Amino acid sequence: MKVAVFSAKPYDQASLGAVQCPLTWHYLEPKLDVETAKLAHGHQVVVAFVNDDLSAPVLAELKKAGVKMVALRCAGFNNLDLDAANALGIRVARVPAYSPEAVAEHAIALIMMLNRRLHRAYNRVRENNFSLDGLLGFNLHGKTAAVIGTGAIGLATARILAGFGCTLTGFDVKPNPAFSALGGQYLGFDQCIEGADIISLHCPLTPDTYHLINAQRLGAMKRGVMLINTSRGALLDTQAAIDALKSGQLGYLGLDVYEQEGDLFFEDLSNRIIPDDVFQRLLTFPNVVITGHQGYFTQEALSAIACTTVQNIEAFAKGGRSGNELTKA
Ligand code: NAI
Repeated sequence: MKVAVFSAKPYDQASLGAVQCPLTWHYLEPKLDVETAKLAHGHQVVVAFVNDDLSAPVLAELKKAGVKMVALRCAGFNNLDLDAANALGIRVARVPAYSPEAVAEHAIALIMMLNRRLHRAYNRVRENNFSLDGLLGFNLHGKTAAVIGTGAIGLATARILAGFGCTLTGFDVKPNPAFSALGGQYLGFDQCIEGADIISLHCPLTPDTYHLINAQRLGAMKRGVMLINTSRGALLDTQAAIDALKSGQLGYLGLDVYEQEGDLFFEDLSNRIIPDDVFQRLLTFPNVVITGHQGYFTQEALSAIACTTVQNIEAFAKGGRSGNELTKA
């Protein structure tokens, strides 16, 4: 079976290529969109990633090209029009939980970096500047950390935060008994964000969670709060975050995802002018750390993604269902 892999980087080729299977991979560097969908011609399966466009017009192009299945090599599927996939009869599967610890550990890395100002300390020491002015942190022990979305990644994050001695609060539309078992206390959303010293977002991006953190909610948080988003960029109204950073209401911001990341992330743009003024403004703050959607990027996660992607495609090839399908039977 021929499989077209979009947005394929060398590390994707290495991890997919390492799985023993009879699939024929065709690695395509471009992102999937309405133009590049034609490249899928002659392939029954397309493998796509977080910033590939799987909107209705793109799915229609894939259908015309003869594609019968889309295998997402990620957990989130906010970039996919599921109704359109169902209507077109294109089967879709994803990798629901490949390594929650990978993303959780990255969220913690952002917390530690911001709190102890490691991004600034690193540069200072390299210039023989050993002054501590401006590097003052706080103990995580005893602080209240709110986890928004206590699924696989939220729970893994909560486990680490519990180890630091944080008081855990959480909000989820579907409470997870494992979070309560850790000592986490579920609160209403507003109460949860209003009482926290650190807030970490781990819920999916859906129409309900678009700009979940907006100006009004930022205003209701504790002054100087730390906000971490490793989930999806559009959970946060970025302009509102900039305003809150300027006023000091938001004390720290750690992002692994960004609303308009599709135009930026995963590419080397170091020789280009970035036209996104909102992103550029974010980079000017000393209390903002941004990484380019690398939360998932560990060896363990890449091999788990590759294995599950192959299982999903093989189940489809055999006329079965993998259990990771998003589309209806
Ligand atoms: P999961 O499905 O295990 O957990 C998501 C949780 O969010 C569930 O408990 C669900 O009930 C809850 N939820 C849904 N709507 C909510 C709402 N309106 N308010 C509060 N909670 C809500 O998913 P998992 O594996 O924990 O992933 C979470 C998100 O992390 C993904 O949707 C994806 O966007 C992001 N992600 C980011 C990665 C990165 O590299 N930065 C990698 C993998 C996932």
